[in-house]
Amino acid sequence: MKDIRVNLKKYPYHIIIGRNTIKFLPALLKKLSIGKDACIITNPAIKKRYGSSVSRLLRAAGFSDKFIVVADSEKSKSLACAWRVIRNLAAYDKNKRIFIVALGGGVIGDLSGFIASVYKRGVGYIQVPTTLLAQVDSSIGGKTAVDLKEAKNLIGAFYHPRLVLSDVNFLKTLPKRQIKSGLAEVIKYGLIKDKRLFSFIENRYRDILSADTASLEYIVAASAAIKAKIVSLDEKEEKGIRTLLNFGHTIGHAIEAAGGYLRYNHGEAIALGMVFAADLSQRLRLLNQQAFKRIVELIKDSGLPVSARNISLQKVLNAHYRDKKFRGKRNRFVLINAIGEAKIKEGIPLKLIKKSLQKILLPAYLL
Ligand code: NAD
Ligand code: GLY
Repeated sequence: MKDIRVNLKKYPYHIIIGRNTIKFLPALLKKLSIGKDACIITNPAIKKRYGSSVSRLLRAAGFSDKFIVVADSEKSKSLACAWRVIRNLAAYDKNKRIFIVALGGGVIGDLSGFIASVYKRGVGYIQVPTTLLAQVDSSIGGKTAVDLKEAKNLIGAFYHPRLVLSDVNFLKTLPKRQIKSGLAEVIKYGLIKDKRLFSFIENRYRDILSADTASLEYIVAASAAIKAKIVSLDEKEEKGIRTLLNFGHTIGHAIEAAGGYLRYNHGEAIALGMVFAADLSQRLRLLNQQAFKRIVELIKDSGLPVSARNISLQKVLNAHYRDKKFRGKRNRFVLINAIGEAKIKEGIPLKLIKKSLQKILLPAYLL
């Protein structure tokens, strides 16, 4: 079992990672002392699989539990859904000391964190992430959000959980496409900060894809340690440190948007964004050809896309310009000097950006 600390001034918190760590839930909650009445936000599929065991653990330790179930869809990250959950919470919350448990993937985590941040001007919540993506990324760092039709994650706040409890045993039931999606973020951590993690994935991608729990425990812990350190140094993305986590995301988000959020899931779009960013790094003579080849090879081995068909380059560029992180007229990308070493570059000529986009956005006849 690994215990990683996110060092924040006001509410530092722990990320507990391992196999069957869920059994520590009651003891960890008692130590936190955040309430007696657990409101568990989840979706029907996760409740069916894991609801009764979580409920048993809580009740046996004297906590009460109430499940609030939302649809299994990105559409649950909406103000309408948050409103329905909040009404439900308010009706239930009479003479209670409630706290929120986000039991699920990134959708549940982002929605629950958002609700926890606004209900009664903030109630305590914990993250119990059940997807690889949520365990390595979305459950850590306090970015909470719901979507608007204009763009994803447009309404939200930084509001940190009091605990992240990651049990890699949950990942045994995760569909392979979701493992691959989370793996894209793990590759990102390797590329920006940890060449040993990158090599580990090169050697063990088959085990990871078949949900070998020892391999998963290693990559979740290595990724969480990197994210925890970055968030501790630059909680609100103001110092150019947390920005490094956006490697592959600038164009990845634009590809997700250009594909109407249907064609590629988050990790698949990020994989394409990472190939773009690595190609651009090579064009700017930051990254050598051998490293570039290793990156493309690993993304392919991980079952993630390295090129996309029938996505318009102009659509991707337009989505990129609309990105909430785009700084005026000056573009800004996270690039790499080598595997494990990232840097931020601004004002890159459009001609080069287009060339790197052409590398990943192939016309149909080339595939
Ligand atoms: P998700 O939450 O939609 O989960 C993916 C699918 O896996 C769902 O169908 C879910 O029901 C299923 N699932 C979850 N756990 C399971 C399990 N143990 N066994 C079987 N099935 C299981 O998707 P996700 O990839 O976890 O999260 C994506 C969301 O995360 C997006 O909304 C994205 O914007 C957000 N995100 C947030 C941050 C952040 O910092 N807050 C970072 C990255 C992504
Ligand atoms: N997922 C990027 C961040 O949390 O900053």
